[in-house]
Amino acid sequence: MHSQAPDRNLGLDLVRVTEAAALASARWLGRGDRNAGDKAAVDAMRLSFTTVDIDGVVVIGEGEKDKAPMLYNGEVIGTGRGPSMDVAVDPVEGTRLLAYGRPNAISVVAMAPRGAMYNPGPAFYMKKLAVSKEATNAVDLDAPTGDNLEKIARALGKDVDDLVVFVLDKPRHQGLIREIREVGARIQLHTDGDVAGALMAVLPDTSVDVMMGTGGTPEGVLAAAAIKVVGGEMLGRLDPQSSDERNALRAAGYDLRRVLTVDDLVAGDDVFFVATGISGGDFLAGVHFTGTGAVTHSLVMRGKTGTVRKVEAHHSFDRLMQISAIDYD
Ligand code: FBP
Repeated sequence: MHSQAPDRNLGLDLVRVTEAAALASARWLGRGDRNAGDKAAVDAMRLSFTTVDIDGVVVIGEGEKDKAPMLYNGEVIGTGRGPSMDVAVDPVEGTRLLAYGRPNAISVVAMAPRGAMYNPGPAFYMKKLAVSKEATNAVDLDAPTGDNLEKIARALGKDVDDLVVFVLDKPRHQGLIREIREVGARIQLHTDGDVAGALMAVLPDTSVDVMMGTGGTPEGVLAAAAIKVVGGEMLGRLDPQSSDERNALRAAGYDLRRVLTVDDLVAGDDVFFVATGISGGDFLAGVHFTGTGAVTHSLVMRGKTGTVRKVEAHHSFDRLMQISAIDYD
C-alpha cells in the first residue's frame, strides 16, 4: 500500500510564536499597565512570525491599520513561502487579567487556509454558548437558559446543581446570572477571558462545564478554531452592544438573527490552534521565571489529525535575552 509522508504540522512553528509573546508579556504581570503588556506581546509575536513558513494574512488582529501598527487586520505575515493562510492572533487574550495578575491570561494564535475564517467586520460582540462534545446536541441558543442547562446536565450525566457555568462578570449578564442561579447551577464569574472560558467548557478535566454569555466576536472565532479540533460546540449570534455597532453591521449586510456554529466560524478541518499560558490558571499554567530561564506551558492543536499536544518548554537565559532585547520604543 502506498503510504504518504505526513505533511508539516505548522502548529509546532506557531507555538514558538505564542511562547515568545507569553514570555515577553509575563514581565508585565500585575504591574497595572494593560497597554505595555499587550505591546510587549505584539512585538515579540510579530518578530517570531517572520520565521514561520506561511503566506499569511492577519484576518483577526489588533484592529484596523490606522489604530494598530503591527498585526493589524490585513497585514501580510510569514516568510511568504508555504501555504496561503488566514491568521487570527490575540497576543494577550485578557489584557486586564495580565495587568492585575489574575488567572487565565493567554497568548493565542489560530490558522486556517485562506478564506476559511469568518470575518467579524464591524462586529465587536457575540452571544455564545459553548459545551463539550457530549452535550453538543443538547444546546439551542434560543431556548431558555434553564432548559439548556437541564439538557446539558442530562447529556453530561450530572444534576443541574453539579454544573459550573463560566460567565463574564459584566452588567449585561445580570439577567443571565439570575436565570442560571434560579435553576440551581453554579457559576464562575470572570472579569475577562472568554477564549479560556470556552476552552475550559469543551476540554475534559477542567472546573467548567458550560460557557454562556456575550463576549468578543474575534474571541469567538479563535475559540471556534480550538473547538474544531477537540470537538464540542459553540453556538453564537452577533450581539451588538451599541446602536453604532448595530447600524454598522446592518450597513455591511450582516444577518443579526443568524445562529453561527463552529463550522460557520472556521470552515474545514485544516486548522491550527495554539495557546500559551501567561498568568496561569487551572487549565494552562503561566510563565514561570526561574532565575536562569523560564518555563512555559502551551496547547498545540491540529484539526487534520485531531492531535492535541501539551508542550512544556524550558527556555534558556539567552532566549529570554533575545526576546527582551526587542526595542519597545
Ligand atoms: P482583551 O484581551 O482585549 O483585554 O479582551 C478580553 C475580553 O474579556 C475577552 O475575553 C472578551 O471576549 C471581551 O474582552 C469582552 O469584552 P468587554 O470587556 O468589552 O465586555
